[in-house]
Amino acid sequence: MRYEILEQRHIDECATGFVAAYENEPWTFERAREYLEDLFKTPRSIGFCAYENDLFVGAVFCREIVGSQFNRLSIEEFFVIPSMQRKGYGNALIDVVRRHVCNNDLGAITLMTERDNPAITFYEKGGFSNVEGMAFLADKTM
Ligand SMILES: CC(C)(COP(=O)(O)OP(=O)(O)OC[C@H]1O[C@@H](n2cnc3c(N)ncnc32)[C@H](O)[C@@H]1OP(=O)(O)O)[C@@H](O)C(=O)NCCC(=O)NCCS
Repeated sequence: MRYEILEQRHIDECATGFVAAYENEPWTFERAREYLEDLFKTPRSIGFCAYENDLFVGAVFCREIVGSQFNRLSIEEFFVIPSMQRKGYGNALIDVVRRHVCNNDLGAITLMTERDNPAITFYEKGGFSNVEGMAFLADKTM
């Protein structure tokens, strides 16, 4: 695997890969592109795209969040195209993120996902764990 630091020119192939990775959700290419471009344009955003030869395999979109004592890296989006899942590319991308965190003296890597997402097994095997005491709220009356 080789990787490239995420740039604007990668957004279209990321959107195509994203729609494929979330095939059970009604994403269109246009909405995926809009969503990912917004993430990319967030202040302090950093991301990485993975390739096998010239095939786009997946990407991780992150942003650095300033804290009172240290900054942390938040994984905002992360996916591997279905045909290349379970081949180690997800772990390889997380390794790239970890190297970035070490090289930039960031305090932690954090992320949010749905509790029943199979990706939780992936993260837990990679050393992530649930943060007790945190709550994620939504007002569903709107
Ligand atoms: C989560 C995701 C990025 C993992 O990428 P991947 O390339 O398949 O991950 P890896 O091949 O490096 O997996 C490493 C290990 O994690 C675990 N794992 C990965 N995907 C899993 C799944 N769907 N269910 C259970 N365990 C899983 C396995 O133990 C795997 O090792 P194994 O294949 O030897 O058993 C990928 O499944 C994906 O894109 N999912 C859809 C989008 C998504 O949910 N993204 C996360 C949003 S927070």
